[in-house]
Amino acid sequence: MKNIVILISGRGSNMQAIVEATPPGARIAAVISNRPDAAGLAWAAARGIATVALDHKAYPSREVFDAALAEAVDGFTPDLVVLAGFMRILTAGFTRRYEGRMLNIHPSLLPAFTGLHTHARAIEAGCKVAGCTVHFVTAELDHGPIVAQGVVPVHDADTPDTLAARVLQVEHQLYPAAVRWFVEGSLVIEDGRVRHRGVAALPAALVVPTV
Ligand code: GRF
Repeated sequence: MKNIVILISGRGSNMQAIVEATPPGARIAAVISNRPDAAGLAWAAARGIATVALDHKAYPSREVFDAALAEAVDGFTPDLVVLAGFMRILTAGFTRRYEGRMLNIHPSLLPAFTGLHTHARAIEAGCKVAGCTVHFVTAELDHGPIVAQGVVPVHDADTPDTLAARVLQVEHQLYPAAVRWFVEGSLVIEDGRVRHRGVAALPAALVVPTV
């Protein structure tokens, strides 16, 4: 049985999607938040999942917080650590500790738009497509081997909120699938790139607007 530990900071809708689609052979060992008031914590606790709140504001430095976080995570002997809207920059030491077994989802088509305000920036840039990326976590923020990407159109009338809502629906499909692939052992990292063992045929092209 593979143990999955999910880190959140807020609403936790990606966490919920992953919990609800927990793949065979895995269990959600814990949900941990750096914000005690994260709505996702109560949701997980109500379903009998172990929860931990570690308020980062109570720690004197990023290093000390990350050490406490690692101790809490390791207490659940994780095979996979899933960052799901975890809004803290992690130290290189923390990312190294979980190298190859920590995933993140970012609401842009990386490597475009790392960091914050991705949807506003995609609209501002006139992008015709936007989306989300699941990637393995490395020390560099929003970098690391890409596992999968989901694409949505950007409409002329989009606001950052309408675009975020469209992307979020795809996040909720993509992230549980990525977790399942990891648990099944079908992700192989080679030369910094992820190869998929046994993925079905892919569509040839996605063109927006449709031609
Ligand atoms: C998602 O858009 C995720 O891509 C980003 O933060 C948001 C978290 O939402 N990293 P939720 O907490 O999973 O609902």
